[in-house]
Amino acid sequence: MQRGRSGTSPDRGLGWTGREFEVIVGPVAHGGHCVARHEGRVVFVRHALPGERVRVRVTEDRHPGFCRADAVEVLAAAPARVERPCPYSGPGKCGGCDWQHVDPAEQRRLKASVVREQLVRLGGLDAGEPVVAGLAVEELPGGPLRWRSRARFAVDGAGAPGLRRHRSHDVVVLDDCPITVEPAAQAVLGRRWPGAGAVDVSIDSTGAVTTVPLDRRGRPRAAEVRRAGEELPAEPAGRAERRAGGRDWEVEGTGFWQVHPAAADALVDAVAGFVAAAAGETVLDLYAGAGLFGGALAPAVGAGGRVVCVEADPGACAAADANLADLPQAEVWQGEVDADGLTGLLAELDPGPDVVVLDPPRAGAGTAVSRLLAGAGARAVVYVACDPAALGRDVAAFSAAGYRLAALRGFDAFPMTAHVECVALLVPA
Ligand SMILES: C[S@@+](CC[C@H](N)C(=O)[O-])C[C@H]1O[C@@H](n2cnc3c(N)ncnc32)[C@H](O)[C@@H]1O
Repeated sequence: MQRGRSGTSPDRGLGWTGREFEVIVGPVAHGGHCVARHEGRVVFVRHALPGERVRVRVTEDRHPGFCRADAVEVLAAAPARVERPCPYSGPGKCGGCDWQHVDPAEQRRLKASVVREQLVRLGGLDAGEPVVAGLAVEELPGGPLRWRSRARFAVDGAGAPGLRRHRSHDVVVLDDCPITVEPAAQAVLGRRWPGAGAVDVSIDSTGAVTTVPLDRRGRPRAAEVRRAGEELPAEPAGRAERRAGGRDWEVEGTGFWQVHPAAADALVDAVAGFVAAAAGETVLDLYAGAGLFGGALAPAVGAGGRVVCVEADPGACAAADANLADLPQAEVWQGEVDADGLTGLLAELDPGPDVVVLDPPRAGAGTAVSRLLAGAGARAVVYVACDPAALGRDVAAFSAAGYRLAALRGFDAFPMTAHVECVALLVPA
């Protein structure tokens, strides 16, 4: 079964699936793969590196413009190729990591290249601009393994835990996950979870591990917390304790917190450096979670300043309220950051914000929110992004509304995966 280049064959959906051929691998692309070409078509190749000669097997062919493939045999390896530390990683295996076969320093170069490409392609920036061209993704302390302090594992029909195969619902059963902090991995992977569809796990700064099984519709069941070294559950459900930015924080057991144990400190440092808050200023902390950035910036604006944290999730708002209780200049507003919510918020803020910090989920803030924020006239907008494509789209919206990208830092907060965290400073052009 083969189809022509037009992609109009009636067997669309299978097409090249299963076909094997040789390619020279081209540049890295967003999503944990590299780009190659074969018979005029684009092939997104996983488990390869730019410049390698590999034999690929097509895993998915659903789109006229491209198909997806795994490098199943390396015929000429790149110098940065290494032995995978995880036995579950590789073609057709666990889909959790993208770059296990790549030296960690090269992983960071690949990520920097992806961020640059997204800012040029989607953000409309010039590849030669120093802010873009000079980006290097910074390493966080702790090495490339055992950094994941929060994870969701899948559970198969027999109650065995694991992770999903790449772009599949199949569960690859695991007895360890070497990127997850060991007690958290073992708390889930060391036992069966009959009837569950998934299990959320987190380990906090004190070593307490919280597990929350979810039913097959994704609804949480009762949480369990175990302190390090204890056999029996310590509490029926819990709050996790974290330390970052020189403060102690409490969040819900598996509620949002930066996944890499060093990420919260690194991001607070980057955000505070870009904001350079002055006494008396008003700071908006949007998508505030448990109040991490607002709490870190509040001392700099002082008693005469104001920090307004906005967060949609009621549990995170309750945590932020408790975490910021000693900072009278900080307020927590529960609500959606969307065009309506933001219009109301900006109308109530008088004077308007001097600084906006935003840390949206993967989808980004979106054009409407970005335009409204640009219209609020802050002297600085600091954008924390976990998806460089969303950052690129929103930078384009800010640029169209009179802001320019003045500085950018990238952090390897997710080693072995294709994910990267960025902090961008936007200022009035
Ligand atoms: C990436 S997290 C950032 C949290 C926090 N800045 C931190 O670093 O700990 C994004 C947060 O935005 C919240 N959120 C998602 N969509 C939202 C929306 N439309 N309005 C307000 N908050 C939202 C989530 O509940 C989550 O706490």
